Amino acid sequence: MVSDGDIYALIGEDGFTRLVAAFYAQVPQDDILGPMYPADDIEGAEQRLRDFLVGRFGGPPRYEQSRGHPRLRMRHNPFKLDQAARDRWVLLMDRALEEAGLPPDVTPFLREFFHGTATFLMNSHGQ
Ligand code: HEM
Repeated sequence: MVSDGDIYALIGEDGFTRLVAAFYAQVPQDDILGPMYPADDIEGAEQRLRDFLVGRFGGPPRYEQSRGHPRLRMRHNPFKLDQAARDRWVLLMDRALEEAGLPPDVTPFLREFFHGTATFLMNSHGQ
């Protein structure tokens, strides 16, 4: 059984870098997500997600050092996270997980984490 604190030891900076790069490579041209992300700072967005995940899963706490407490629901308030946005984010991340080729135990563990967190972050249930 894998637990949160083991993931960084298992996949290292390189694993998170490959995962997040594979996710963001799909974002700019995505019809739902593309317009939400800062076109002129996609690298910054990539770094924020990577640093957050590294810290969350047992690596150095760079995210908190530069951004403070994550407060992810609050930070997503400016964006409309409805079912369609949630499902698309999850679809792109599932593809990224496949592409990153992480160890067999890690992939389903992170998939569950992303699916659950994405659902938790939804802030709109209308159109
Ligand atoms: C449910 C669908 C989601 C959508 C549509 C979404 C969208 C966004 C957008 C547009 C940003 C701003 C990009 C930036 O400049 O940093 C952002 C930031 C961020 N998202 Fe999401 N997100 C979703 C789910 C998630 C999930 C599941 C996680 C964590 C596993 C996550 C973690 C983050 C983090 C750490 C930031 C940077 C916050 C900051 O420091 O400002 N997001 N998200």
